[in-house]
Amino acid sequence: MILSEKLEELVQPVKPDLKLFDEKLSKFIAGDSPLVASIAHHLVKNRGKRMRPAFMFLLARASEYFNKFTIDASLAIELIHTATLLHDDVVDDSNLRRGSETINFKWTNLISVLMGDYLFAKSFRLMVGTGSIDLVDAISSATERVSIGELRQVEETSNFDLSEEEYLKIIADKTASLFSVSSEAAPILAGENGRIRNEFAVFGEKIGVAFQIADDLLDYVGDPKITGKNPGNDIFSGKVTLPLIYSLRHSDKGKRRNILRMLSDGVSEDQFGLILNYVTESGGIDYTSRRAAEISHEGLSTIRGFKDSEYHQSLLGMVDYSTSRIC
Ligand code: IPE
Ligand code: IPE
Ligand code: MG
Ligand code: MG
Repeated sequence: MILSEKLEELVQPVKPDLKLFDEKLSKFIAGDSPLVASIAHHLVKNRGKRMRPAFMFLLARASEYFNKFTIDASLAIELIHTATLLHDDVVDDSNLRRGSETINFKWTNLISVLMGDYLFAKSFRLMVGTGSIDLVDAISSATERVSIGELRQVEETSNFDLSEEEYLKIIADKTASLFSVSSEAAPILAGENGRIRNEFAVFGEKIGVAFQIADDLLDYVGDPKITGKNPGNDIFSGKVTLPLIYSLRHSDKGKRRNILRMLSDGVSEDQFGLILNYVTESGGIDYTSRRAAEISHEGLSTIRGFKDSEYHQSLLGMVDYSTSRIC
């Protein structure tokens, strides 16, 4: 998928790092069997936005923590991210990702799950290669959080009473965990284990939550030609996210009852327009985008102390991009 021009512009200062990252990634996952090679080719051709490595490189450069293991640490995290997507697309029965067919759709569920496992294994080797037990510990804990978040989300399927607080906890685990560890990786590799490391982690945590809120918003209002994913998937699969949570608590009783009836019967593709109208009229869309902006801005205090640089400026832009993005 083509990166939005805005994102392309924001990551310019770390373009050489991202180039090296992409080269190493293609080489690292390419071999081992013809099947692995063809799926790896598909993954390299349909690459993601590289948000986690971009944040890691910008933070590492801005704080001067960048070192010879930074790229490998980012690769380890991106491999885990990709593995979780391969599993997530099976779980969500999705057929479109990054503007192309998902692995489960193009091949099979079985292959998507096994390829995900293979990427996890590859990631372990990279992590260990950095020689930092603290990094291995942080990435392992983050990965555990992703699984907990995904499992909690399955547990809460079609729970239309889900609170905003519970929703925020789930998305912090399933998504912010990897943003958080991407942010703290460079200080960890530099041997920082106290307050500074924690501040970097909090920055990533806030950005990650805001990023997932924006992603959930795009599931209502995104253009599939730009997002590369089909809208409405969350509603069709009973996933309750912030636009709906807010609307169900802020609309009048009559409307709420009608919508709840529709939701508990299962929403069909023809009915998506009605749900979208409801969340728009009830203020769910506006509220969600406001919350995403608020939460991402809470993370800013961490980088406020950085000396001014092109990396710092990009980070500020990336904070806004994470919440107002269109893809
Ligand atoms: C997708 O993440 C899964 C979420 C956490 C929303 P990204 O939107 O970062 O995925 P790619 O790597 O750019 O496709
Ligand atoms: C993101 O979950 C995947 C993980 C964090 C593992 P979603 O199911 O909400 O993301 P998309 O919309 O498929 O990218
Ligand atoms: Mg999912
Ligand atoms: Mg999904």
